[in-house]
Amino acid sequence: MNAIFKRRSCRNFKDMEVKMEDIKEMLYAAMQAPSAMRQIPWDFVVVEKTEIPTLINCSHGAQSLKECNKVVIFVMRNDLKCPEFLQQDMSCAIDNFMLEGASRGIATIWIGTYPHNERIDFLKKYLKIDDPYIPFAMVGVGYPKDDKLFKFDDTRFDDKRIHIGKW
Ligand SMILES: Cc1cc2nc3c(=O)[nH]c(=O)nc-3n(C[C@H](O)[C@H](O)[C@H](O)COP(=O)(O)O)c2cc1C
Repeated sequence: MNAIFKRRSCRNFKDMEVKMEDIKEMLYAAMQAPSAMRQIPWDFVVVEKTEIPTLINCSHGAQSLKECNKVVIFVMRNDLKCPEFLQQDMSCAIDNFMLEGASRGIATIWIGTYPHNERIDFLKKYLKIDDPYIPFAMVGVGYPKDDKLFKFDDTRFDDKRIHIGKW
């Protein structure tokens, strides 16, 4: 089944390494994403498991990273051509990354960072970076504890959300 239909957020992971080759392929997919005027605002920091006890202090939602094997911090550059579209560009790259993971049996969890200033500042300090580089989101990766995590959820399709020709 297409990875789009089986990707699910994961918060419980096996104690199993995700190989750098797989992360690289997922980042290869991330970098195929569209961006406004091809401004390509992204950089990525791959963080090892030993650092996770620090990263979970970024926000309440970051607790979900506890069991994952690696974390990728998506960093956005904000001095480019189309600043108004940066968030959309970054989100496209993250989705591609997660979908490539799902197609390889690697589960992910998106941890919202931008636009919360305290989370951005936490990660700026952690990475020792400054403007124009802005931490946008973290994505935890790992192999899911639940072998049935990747499954189609047929309750999600809603015909009423489709408007043909007029609202
Ligand atoms: C912008 C964004 C921020 C999110 N932040 C968090 C978070 O901080 N912690 C977390 O556990 N999940 C987070 N999620 C995951 C959502 O809770 C999850 O995608 C949603 O419940 C739908 O479930 P699914 O991903 O399995 O389809 C985030 C998702 C998005 C798109």
